[in-house]
Amino acid sequence: MFIETCIAPVNIALIKYWGKRDEELILPINDSLSVTLSTDEMCAKTTAAAASSFKRHIMWLNGEEVPFEQNPRAMRCLKEIQQLALAKEQLKFPIEWKLHIVSRNNFPTAAGLASSAAGYACLVYALAHLYGVQKEELTAIARQGSGSACRSLYGGFVRWHMGKSNDGTDSIALPVAPCEHWQDLHVLILVVNDARKKTSSTKGMQLAVETSDLIKYRAQYCVPQRTAAIVDAIKKHDFAKLAEITMRDSNQFHAIALDTYPPCVYMNDVSHAIVEFVHAFNKAVGEVKLAYTFDAGPNACLYLLERDVSIVLAAIKNSFPNDAEQSVEYVKGIPIACDIGENN
Ligand code: DP6
Repeated sequence: MFIETCIAPVNIALIKYWGKRDEELILPINDSLSVTLSTDEMCAKTTAAAASSFKRHIMWLNGEEVPFEQNPRAMRCLKEIQQLALAKEQLKFPIEWKLHIVSRNNFPTAAGLASSAAGYACLVYALAHLYGVQKEELTAIARQGSGSACRSLYGGFVRWHMGKSNDGTDSIALPVAPCEHWQDLHVLILVVNDARKKTSSTKGMQLAVETSDLIKYRAQYCVPQRTAAIVDAIKKHDFAKLAEITMRDSNQFHAIALDTYPPCVYMNDVSHAIVEFVHAFNKAVGEVKLAYTFDAGPNACLYLLERDVSIVLAAIKNSFPNDAEQSVEYVKGIPIACDIGENN
């Protein structure tokens, strides 16, 4: 039997990916940019094993069997990795051998906390190790599992370039800056609700492309200049600029969700209260020290500098106490990850 275990972190987008131009190859309509979080707090861990005795591919996610052979995205990732291995004539075991895969997330699955990003990044990285092709370009493969997964293959600040080709070969993620570049940038995850979201990201963005007018405007006119400006802010350690762009992009993404017909509502009352809290906090301290972003769910990710973590945590606990109607269930300060997919 051959066996490999990998860990992959979650990434949280500052400039959101929302909308595909090709559903099957997962080609986006805009670039996106994210920060990869430390694997200590939020990660996926995947073990992939190949053996001559296995009768079929089987996968367990968080202890429950999930379809693998019937999952076109997972099968596509596997086929792509196998093709790389065949091309390199580097087979450690016969290509026909079936796999058993066990994966676990240490955070809520499908609650808008980027679980598919960490999950598919981890699956692809574990498979690449199993088939001995881990040195190859893997982001275009992870992208075909879940778009945002391609960004979890690097630490630090990562940009997924939408690419122009029809075959997706240029739709890859590349590092913008390593985590060492801005070590005191931290993230606070505020879990408002860890229930599964009503409309998946895949479905929500598909509906948005079909029905929203705003999505075209964002992809064409807003994201290109926003991405250039945030790359510049990262290079210059300009937190206030990074914060403003991040909040504007999150707001615009949720405006598109509402502009979708029928609308997709991902944020709830507590999410909106968090938005208000962040703006009030920044106003009270007289500078932009805190930024929010929300993915396709009600939970918030706050960006801030390490030196402000304790004062912000105290303010959050004061504004959203556990026993109140508007409470947050879990708050955690997380540094940025330096490396990804460490093998253990
Ligand atoms: C709101 O990567 O989960 O988190 O490619 O269909 O699997 P699929 O979608 P997915 O979408 C993530 C959307 C987002 C924004 C982002 O991470 O950029």
